[in-house]
Amino acid sequence: MANRSTPVAGAADRAPQVREMFDTLAPTYDRANRIISMGLDQGWRRKAIARLGPAAQGDMLDLCAGTLDLTVMLLDAGAARIHSLDFAQKMLDAGAPKLSSDAPVQLVTADAREMPLEDGSVDGIIAGFGLRNVPEVERAIDECSRVLRPGGRLVVLEFFQPTTLVSQFLSGTYNRFILPILGGVVSGYGGAYSYLAGSIDAFVTREAFGAIMEDRGFTDVRCEAMFPPVADIVSGTRSGGAA
Ligand SMILES: C[S@@+](CC[C@H](N)C(=O)[O-])C[C@H]1O[C@@H](n2cnc3c(N)ncnc32)[C@H](O)[C@@H]1O
Repeated sequence: MANRSTPVAGAADRAPQVREMFDTLAPTYDRANRIISMGLDQGWRRKAIARLGPAAQGDMLDLCAGTLDLTVMLLDAGAARIHSLDFAQKMLDAGAPKLSSDAPVQLVTADAREMPLEDGSVDGIIAGFGLRNVPEVERAIDECSRVLRPGGRLVVLEFFQPTTLVSQFLSGTYNRFILPILGGVVSGYGGAYSYLAGSIDAFVTREAFGAIMEDRGFTDVRCEAMFPPVADIVSGTRSGGAA
């Protein structure tokens, strides 16, 4: 497509272009993920689900749900009800065939910064590789705090800005050079994968993200590196409950 505009990583007004980019990537997104991560991405997602603890069996929000890989894992984990929210309709549409017709899943097309969900309506939130793309990420975390019940869990699986030498090396080589080429071959849209690589450098570190969560009332905030150390999980508990 000649006229594709690629978002600028970190730009405050990038949301409409990010949505358009993911709508364009939707048909090839899953295949590209498996190839680019060499199959590691599903293991990282399973680890993130485990960090939800018992909340995973309650009412859940899959935030920036994309093609619903985490939604499917939440169903396997016994979630009672799942809101799967994303602002790119075509990503949700691409994932919908993964669900059976009676799955307790509501697909919600909305922005993470303004969720059409009731206050205190979910026991847990999982956000996989999405929040890095959200401008004013603090607003999305405030929304997470609002829709979580006191004691509820927020688990964020993300490519944070690398801080260790190993992660800086991996990010500087693989993400910058190999990712755009592989992503380009699979999707025909290399610019999108250049953006995704750039968005990692433009995002906060996992420690800074944990501090934002603490400032917004989350307790027991923990950061955990995946293997290899390119992805991390940051998790915390919404204050005010017994959990
Ligand atoms: C890299 S994909 C991750 C999808 C899925 N969670 C996974 O694990 O594969 C990021 C998703 O975040 C969504 N997204 C980005 N910014 C968003 C926003 N402001 N509000 C809602 N969804 C957003 C995109 O549309 C995209 O589907």
